[in-house]
Amino acid sequence: MSKIIEAIIFDLDGVIVDTAKYHFLAWKELAMSLKIPFDENDNEQLKGVSRIQSLEYILNKAELNLTPLEKEKLATMKNLRYLDHITTIDTTEMLPGVIELLKDLRANDIKIALGSASKNASFILDRLGIMHYFDVVVDGNMTKEGKPSPETFLLAAHELNIPAENCLVVEDAAKGVEAAIAANMWCLGIGDTHHLSLAHWVRKDLIGLSFSEINKKIQSLQMKS
Ligand code: BG6
Ligand code: MG
Repeated sequence: MSKIIEAIIFDLDGVIVDTAKYHFLAWKELAMSLKIPFDENDNEQLKGVSRIQSLEYILNKAELNLTPLEKEKLATMKNLRYLDHITTIDTTEMLPGVIELLKDLRANDIKIALGSASKNASFILDRLGIMHYFDVVVDGNMTKEGKPSPETFLLAAHELNIPAENCLVVEDAAKGVEAAIAANMWCLGIGDTHHLSLAHWVRKDLIGLSFSEINKKIQSLQMKS
């Protein structure tokens, strides 16, 4: 079978593992301690966004101007709260269909990368026991610009040595989809079309998805473009 997609770059939070709810809880706890309202809508804006940019979004809501050191302290507090939620994370928190897809990609000789804004990414992959599936891991410790900058995905493709147009990004965040499009990659959004309207293709989840279906879908999208 001829392959357009040679590599798949996965986002982590909300695609591989159900950690988006813990980021939400930790931000909500921090916002409450600062008496700043924070709801699911705010959280949607923060998906895929780096820790410090997320904090800045929350502080801006209350027009709070803090020094870089004060911001650093708050970001650390949020992370400690987040780590409290994830220290015991295990495979039961993996999203359905992920392991089966990783195995199928391996069987089809497709390169696999992680492209995450999270600085906790390696810790989580280790806890889940799935690090060995990844040829390349790009996380928030390795990039200067957060999503929607394409930097994360371009660095992953560069390290894999695969051209951007042969990469498919799997993302659950609008900012992540924007980043994938800016990187000139194919993008599968996981979630609802309303939030992920820029993605080439949207699915509710990864259940039952195989490389052969991915390949067929991208071939049909390419013919239409
Ligand atoms: C992204 C999440 O993957 O990582 C964001 O969607 C999070 O919610 C960001 O803020 C940074 O994560 P961390 O683990 O470095 O605080
Ligand atoms: Mg995500």
